[in-house]
Amino acid sequence: MSDIVADWISSDVLDAGLKRRLALPAAEGSCLPNAAYTSAEFHRREQHTVFRNTWVFAGFTHQLPKAGDVLPVEIAGQPLVLVRDDAGRVRAFHNVCRHRGAKLVSEARSGVSRFVCPNHSWSYGLDGRLLARPHFFGGDRHDVNRAQCHRADLVKVRCNVWHDWIFVNLGGEADDLPEHTRFIRERLADHDFTQLRVAETLQFDLNANWKLAIENFIEPYHVFACHPWLNTFVSMAEREPPGFQGHVLFCGYRFSRTDPARGEGLPYFPDLPEARRMRGDWFVLFPNFAFEIFPDQVAVFVVTPLGAGRCRETIALYFVGEGADGARYAEARERVVRSWRDLNLEDVGVVERMQAGRASDGFDGGVLSPYWDPVLQQFARLVADAV
Ligand SMILES: [Fe+2]
Repeated sequence: MSDIVADWISSDVLDAGLKRRLALPAAEGSCLPNAAYTSAEFHRREQHTVFRNTWVFAGFTHQLPKAGDVLPVEIAGQPLVLVRDDAGRVRAFHNVCRHRGAKLVSEARSGVSRFVCPNHSWSYGLDGRLLARPHFFGGDRHDVNRAQCHRADLVKVRCNVWHDWIFVNLGGEADDLPEHTRFIRERLADHDFTQLRVAETLQFDLNANWKLAIENFIEPYHVFACHPWLNTFVSMAEREPPGFQGHVLFCGYRFSRTDPARGEGLPYFPDLPEARRMRGDWFVLFPNFAFEIFPDQVAVFVVTPLGAGRCRETIALYFVGEGADGARYAEARERVVRSWRDLNLEDVGVVERMQAGRASDGFDGGVLSPYWDPVLQQFARLVADAV
């Protein structure tokens, strides 16, 4: 795409008319126009802004259980490497050698004591410090002098951990992670997250923009039409309208009966107050990290953009204590996992149909429900403000 066309698309997507529609009440306003879901230029712009300037999920600590475990990841289109250092701390670096820019780590590994670049064998400690440059000053004239090496340490990326979830902030300027997650942590203060253990991870590749998957996650309006079983579990009248608080979107309901897929047969969070024992809650931490929480389970939902019209959903299912791995809970657990797989396949259809519709000149941001859809408009505002 030429720069002229790219500039035209960017300015057109974010014109003054759109900003005005995003600020109107949902019944008069709209969400983002088609190009925000289809344009390669808009996707690139999101990578440089939305996914750079705030905390973005990068991986699970359970993928790095031991010191010396390393995991290459890609965030905002950039190669990063996560590592658990000798002190047990998870760190993140730009996954690139300072010499000639070769990618350092290409696959997950364990028992690593240092990073060694495959191209010229420059080596770095797990703290990112450059340790040695073989033959740097000529044949057999190695550089192992710390005083000379220090200018070429690996470039750190700001990294912090919340429960099992590793977040990075490429831009380095976001609020501290505890502040960033405070609203959710306060809402869920009754839940002892240290009891959670991961049991299963599901992945789905979609022909859709990442935003549609997040929007669909926080929007319960489609349940009666697209999820027959969910609709029998909790009716539309029982579902609360989604809300938002800045960069956090949320919704939930109180359920009046349990089901083998929700709150039945598996251990609950310990000491849960009565009011929390019959609730399901959804949270989105902008941009692309989300989870659902029930008294017996947490389902993390991360949507990774793979291009303007492609994304990958990763669903990690956690249960409380022995619920995650105890043999006597195997059947109950498998029932929940199966339900998640089936429900999400229904959602893949919902999301891919919306992506297909975004090729149409007959759509320009949508006509919204004043009850269910203000949260979608808030999400659109967060995107528009960020890019
Ligand atoms: Fe759904």
